Amino acid sequence: MAHQSSLLLLLITIFLPLHLPFSAAANVRGGYWFPGGGFPISAIESTLFTHLFCAFADLDPSTYGVTISPENQPQFWNFTPTVAKRNPLVKTLLSIGGAGANSSALAYMAGNPTARQVFFNSSMGLARSYGFDGLDLDWEFPRSGKEMADFGTLVDEWRVAVNVEAVRSGKPPLILSAAVYYSPFYSSPLVAYPTQVISFCSFEHLPLTNCTKGSFGLGKVVKDL
Ligand SMILES: *[C@@H]1O[C@H](CO)[C@@H](O)[C@H](O)[C@H]1NC(C)=O
Ligand SMILES: *[C@@H]1O[C@H](CO)[C@@H](O)[C@H](O)[C@H]1NC(C)=O
Ligand SMILES: *[C@@H]1O[C@H](CO)[C@@H](O)[C@H](O)[C@H]1NC(C)=O
Repeated sequence: MAHQSSLLLLLITIFLPLHLPFSAAANVRGGYWFPGGGFPISAIESTLFTHLFCAFADLDPSTYGVTISPENQPQFWNFTPTVAKRNPLVKTLLSIGGAGANSSALAYMAGNPTARQVFFNSSMGLARSYGFDGLDLDWEFPRSGKEMADFGTLVDEWRVAVNVEAVRSGKPPLILSAAVYYSPFYSSPLVAYPTQVISFCSFEHLPLTNCTKGSFGLGKVVKDL
């Protein structure tokens, strides 16, 4: 993609669906952390944030389960307890996908009912076992009307699965969010995000002047509309 880096900065994080508790909050201040960025988790000034995204978990292209690569497992395991030391209230989300992810595998999974169940079950299992408060899907990007519709189905069913899991586990429901294209349309008005299941939030970038080292710096303020 020609403008990969600027697109990444323009990704908007949305929270699914509209009536989640924090969409009523005045501001969501989120930032993504990447293991390859040379910025230690312990250096994240977590008091600046309401939500921190640990990126990325992967979709296995043959089983459609979500996995964390062996080299990332130790750091991802430590992510939530480490950022909670300075800010016990910060919410952490495991982000799945990313610019380097296999978008064909994501598209297949979203369009296949059995694969979706594997995705839900494995993503929730990882979030719980690693102590994350939620899950974030970074699918760059659904490329057709069908893929957008499948994305909508995925989100709808994921929400149901999360609610069922919360009842069964007795824990608060996992937070769901997605990073989406900066426009409600991807490349054409015919390729529109499923606005019946997602809510778009306007945002501004945080001036992360105090943490510009490494790749930790994709901060943004997501505002309620
Ligand atoms: C991407 O996913 C597709 C569909 O699951 C699979 O056939 C293909 O081998 C994957 N590519 C890579 C590089 O893993
Ligand atoms: C995943 O599915 C298995 C088998 O149905 C179930 O025992 C387990 O609790 C599920 N995990 C989650 C996180 O829903
Ligand atoms: C960075 O640090 C300066 C000085 O401590 C402070 O005034 C400023 O608000 C900080 N920036 C952010 C984004 O928090």
